[in-house]
Amino acid sequence: MNKGIAIYPGSFDPPTNGHLDLIQRGSKIFEELVVAILRNSEKTPMFSVAERLEMLKELTADLKNVRLDTFDGLMVEYAKSIDAICVLRGIRAISDYEYELQMALMNRKLEPTLETVFMMPADKYSYVSSRLVREVAQAGGPVKGLVPDVVDLKLRQKLDAARRLEKRLEEAGKAKSKKQKKRRGKTKA
Ligand code: PNS
Repeated sequence: MNKGIAIYPGSFDPPTNGHLDLIQRGSKIFEELVVAILRNSEKTPMFSVAERLEMLKELTADLKNVRLDTFDGLMVEYAKSIDAICVLRGIRAISDYEYELQMALMNRKLEPTLETVFMMPADKYSYVSSRLVREVAQAGGPVKGLVPDVVDLKLRQKLDAARRLEKRLEEAGKAKSKKQKKRRGKTKA
């Protein structure tokens, strides 16, 4: 166990088994690991920050040296504000490397004392990303085994609610046009 605080920043929209794997590995290496959710990402998120925090809270409940937080603005500034000495990031495949290297070097330029440490999740999660999980789930595909059960459940609840709303709006639209047709018919007569 190393002395010091490490930060594991990300969007976690939603948290995957790959994220959880990395959190578990990181928690064994660092004295304290702060999993930090970026608040104002440009992307339109599927889950609110509060929902992501809730899921991560449940997933990390048994990891005593893991803390959850959210941040805004520059990650290096947030890291400094909590006295983190290190940033943890996961690399799944060569394709991640270029982006992660660029980000690590930019962060080093911004804050030379903050080191980035890369770790690899278990190879069974090497193709799992939040973006693909969202895409598969939204298209009605199964994501069991790729995300923790609690995330699988929340995904299904969210998508079911969205489908129900879509159906209600569709029905309301149909009813409205039926009424309009009927009214037009009356004015003609
Ligand atoms: O899970 P993600 O979306 O790959 O995480 C990316 C994240 C949140 C780590 C990165 O976008 C970030 O640190 N954003 C905060 C703004 C910042 O510091 N940008 C400069 C990074 S070089």
